[in-house]
Amino acid sequence: MSQLLIRPSRGLTGELTPPGDKSLSHRAVMFAAIAEGRTEISGFLTGEDTLNTAAAVRMLGITVEERGPGSLMVAGKGLDGLKEPSGVLDLGNSGTGMRLLAGLLSGQDFFSVLNGDRYLVKRPMGRIVGPLRRMGAVIDGRLGGTLAPLAIRGAGREAKAIEFSSPIASAQVKSAVLLCGLYAEGVTAVTEPHKSRDHTERLLRFFGVDVKDDGFRVSLAGRPRLRAPGELVIPADVSSAAFFMVAAAIVPGSDLLIRNVGVNPTRTGIIDVLAAMGADITLQSRREQAGEPVADIRVRHRRLHAVQVGGEMIPRAIDEIPVIAVAAAFAEGTTVIRDASELRVKESDRIATIAAELRKMGVEVRESADGMEITGRERLAGAVCESHGDHRIAMSMAVAGLAATGETTVRDAQWIETSFPGFGRFLAQTAYEK
Ligand code: S3P
Repeated sequence: MSQLLIRPSRGLTGELTPPGDKSLSHRAVMFAAIAEGRTEISGFLTGEDTLNTAAAVRMLGITVEERGPGSLMVAGKGLDGLKEPSGVLDLGNSGTGMRLLAGLLSGQDFFSVLNGDRYLVKRPMGRIVGPLRRMGAVIDGRLGGTLAPLAIRGAGREAKAIEFSSPIASAQVKSAVLLCGLYAEGVTAVTEPHKSRDHTERLLRFFGVDVKDDGFRVSLAGRPRLRAPGELVIPADVSSAAFFMVAAAIVPGSDLLIRNVGVNPTRTGIIDVLAAMGADITLQSRREQAGEPVADIRVRHRRLHAVQVGGEMIPRAIDEIPVIAVAAAFAEGTTVIRDASELRVKESDRIATIAAELRKMGVEVRESADGMEITGRERLAGAVCESHGDHRIAMSMAVAGLAATGETTVRDAQWIETSFPGFGRFLAQTAYEK
């Protein structure tokens, strides 16, 4: 067990490039594996979650070589090149790793078993198992196949294309169905109540697959050829950048430049919410990389005010709600977050865990079934906080500690390694070293 000790900062300054995007790193290694030819991936996130996905892909018979920090070479073998794994595929803490691989494996003509850590085996899998069974996969698991470990007998040549209407806006559900759909004859389509992140659609296109997107409905025809793009450069993760955006927004004296951040509009709810709170945040040098928009983000401290967050904004900011709650804790007025019941089934119940941790610092938080109300205050008191086994709760509390009085300790902070290796080092460089 490790802990982070946070002292108040007198301002975050300078610049940083956070590690590669987690969502894109999972997808890059999976899609490169089923593409024809070699893909050199750079900017790959070498966090525990994505390294587990790379290890699973290796167990499926694909050569994945580390070429340097964040650089991987994947020798793809085409759509039908995966082999039955001889052991259990362990996805650790990662819902994305497990749900996307479950989709891919549901299209294979072999048997596989997916497992995860003590947190992942509690997270709902029925949301993907339901549609994947309709597509012809035979899937079992605990509690009627709704909890991991999951045992999958893939549908192979019998895979059926479906028209799936998802009750929730979830990129993991959408992606699982589309990945199985790659193996089905005919057109597989997914409709969502709100648009979730579209990395699967964009990256499949980058590999040459014709993916149609008419707003809330995305579709693809099965049995395409994926062509290795040669090089694939992954931008920095906006969800990791978010901790530094909020830190610079709430700590007086801050002026911080966060470089090379992926600013896909399905992910940039955090920027819109901070701007609505009155933050001084600007995007510079907009460009495109591997079919994804990228920019540098400059944030300077300015007093924030409360906002309302709900509806279509939620999927665009889903992983950033804990750190938005931290911003709200320093904002003038009461921020209301609603329509976010999905937070209860993330790495932890993020409504309960962020509320409990912010209360320790003296913040007034009222929980509801699908959100919370947070009344900001000028000063928060440093406290001893817990990660609850959740990387984003740990980093959110570290950010709160930078702007609080006295010392803050984040216990069980090793979970940060799942998504943001080097977080403590980046924090030390930007928040203290002058
Ligand atoms: C992800 C989708 C989101 C997000 C997760 C990553 C993805 O989950 O919370 O961190 O890469 O597809 P849901 O699909 O469950 O909303």
